[in-house]
Parts: sequence; structure tokens; C-alpha cells
Amino acid sequence: MNPTYNILIVDDNEDNIKVAMNILNRLNYNFSFAFDGIEALEIINIKDFDLILLDVMMPKLDGFDVCKNLKNNDKTKEIPIIFLTAKSDIDSVSKGFELGGVDYITKPFQTKELIARVANHLELWQAKKVLKHNNLDLETEIHHKNQIFATEIEQDQKNIIDILAEIIESTSDETGKHVKRVAKISRLLANLHSDMSEEDEQTIFLAAPLHDVGKITIDTNILHKPAKLTVEEFEKMKEHTTNAHKFLKKSKRKLIKAADIIAYQHHEKWDGSGYPQGLKDKGIHVFGRIVALADVFDALTHKRQYKNSWSFEDSVGYIIENKGIHFDPYLVDLFTQNLERFREIFRDRKANCVNLKN
Ligand SMILES: [Fe+2]
Ligand SMILES: [Fe+2]
Repeated sequence: MNPTYNILIVDDNEDNIKVAMNILNRLNYNFSFAFDGIEALEIINIKDFDLILLDVMMPKLDGFDVCKNLKNNDKTKEIPIIFLTAKSDIDSVSKGFELGGVDYITKPFQTKELIARVANHLELWQAKKVLKHNNLDLETEIHHKNQIFATEIEQDQKNIIDILAEIIESTSDETGKHVKRVAKISRLLANLHSDMSEEDEQTIFLAAPLHDVGKITIDTNILHKPAKLTVEEFEKMKEHTTNAHKFLKKSKRKLIKAADIIAYQHHEKWDGSGYPQGLKDKGIHVFGRIVALADVFDALTHKRQYKNSWSFEDSVGYIIENKGIHFDPYLVDLFTQNLERFREIFRDRKANCVNLKN
């Protein structure tokens, strides 16, 4: 079935409009008409057209100005315009095409020529519309598939991090519960931090459990030594930061890059006395500064092979004492101003079995 086309004929001479309508008399052509440029713009504003037959010499607003106006409007710029005019000088014809007309027919015109040109341009217009529609469908489909793919990749990354966190749990004296609480404390600090986005919060939450992933490379006799490490052993232990960096730095993925920063920098100290690089204040990435505080705080509040657990208050005292020494003073302030929220993580037994996918 032929599509129906809405055609607007703009001419200040009523007879010209009638002639055109009679010649183009087709069942699937619906005609509207306007007697000057202003009227034409008004009608185009309220009705959709597939083609405009436009006279040039008209009162109020001539055909060229109407054309300019339509081409400057996103809603109407695609509508094909055929100039139909007695103005046959070459400059006018050129101007008509320059302004964006698809055709320029001069009066008097051949009946068959007008019919053929109008039909051609309507067919082209229809083909363009179909193409545009199909492209949009295709774009939507591609976008949808990309989204599914991205979600799957993200899920894979999270699963791999979960698995690595479990491996750390099995090799280190630090338990899986510790890394999960560090993730929660880090997320809360990121949430309170004025410069961090929701995405940062989620990223640090997912990457923080990998802060000690480098311990996989450390000799278990050092890792599990139930006494204070010798200087040499401690030097070996420090390598868990640089070893992790060697592996993690290879990835360009956002989450692994964050894990790299955290694993490499979580033992740096605000005053520059940390390791492995001796970075200072804001030279330490905010992810590293946050996890440094979260890691130490949680380690203090829980029992280790070499120490007993400290009370919540004593642990907070230690964090405050080390403000501006070990820890970023701004983060310590956020911490002390919101102690009750951190106490919830400390108390929450459920935090011990948090699933990182949540
Ligand atoms: Fe560490
Ligand atoms: Fe830790």
C-alpha cells in the first residue's frame, strides 16, 4: 500500500495552487495550502509535512526566507522543499539550492515533469525515513547488547575480587572478615568525603578487600610468625605492596586500577614516613589514604596472632593521636565527627559475613 503524503503548497496566487493540486491529483496526496510565507510557517508549526512546494515571490515573507527559517529549525529542517516559481534567473535558482531546496522548478512547468519530480522526492523522503527508523532500531539494539556485556564484565570483575579476597583469607593471618570490614569502613569514609562520587564509593568498596593481595607472594613463615618480625623479615613483608603493584598495574580496568593504588599505597603515611615509596600527604591517592585508616582501625579493634584486640575507644584514640602523622587529618575529622556510624560497623556481627556482591 502506498503511504499517504502531506503536501503543503505555498503561493500567493490561488489559481497557481489550484493548478498544482489538479496536476498532482493522487489518492495518497493530502494537500494543505498557504498564501504567504508567514501563513506557511504557522501551518508547518502545527502539522507535519512530507513535502513543501514553495513559491519565491510572495508578500510579507518570501520563499527564500521561509526556506531559511525551516532549515534553521531542527523539527522542520529535513522536510524536502521544492521551489515552484516564475523566478527563473540563474542566481535565484542557485540561491534556492544553496538554501537547502531539493529542487527548483520554474513556471511555466511541464505537467509530467512536476508529477515525476514530486513523486521522486516523496519516495526519497520515505526511504530516508525508513532508513532512519531502522538505524535507530539498530542503535537501540547495540546499546542494549553493550549494556548487558558491560554488566557481565563488571560482575566477572566483582567475582574475581571475591575469589581473591578468599585466597587472601586463606593465606594471611588476616581473616576474610577483616577485609570485608575494611571495605565497609572505606566506603563510609568515601561517602562522607566531599570530593568523592557515588561511583568512587562503590569502587573503593569493591577494591579495598584487595589491599593485602600481595601477601600471597610472602613466605608463610613470615606471614604466620606468632611473634614480632625481625628487621629483615619486616623488609620482606613490606614487599607485599610492591609485588601487588607489579601484577595489578598491568590492567587498565577501573576496578583493578583502584585495587592497584590501594594495594601499593595503603602503608604510606601522611607525614611521608610510610612505605614503599615514602609518599606524603596528598601525594598519596585518596583511595590509599582512606584504606590506610580503615585497615589500621580495624586491625586495632580485632585480635591478631601478635596482639590482643583494642577497645573501640582506644582504637579511636590511636587514630586521633596519629592525625597528620600517619593519617590524613581531613579523614580523621570525618571519622571522629561520625563515630557512631563507624561504631555500627564495629558492632555489626553481620558485617562479618557481608557478601561483597551486595
Ligand atoms: Fe598491608
Ligand atoms: Fe589489612
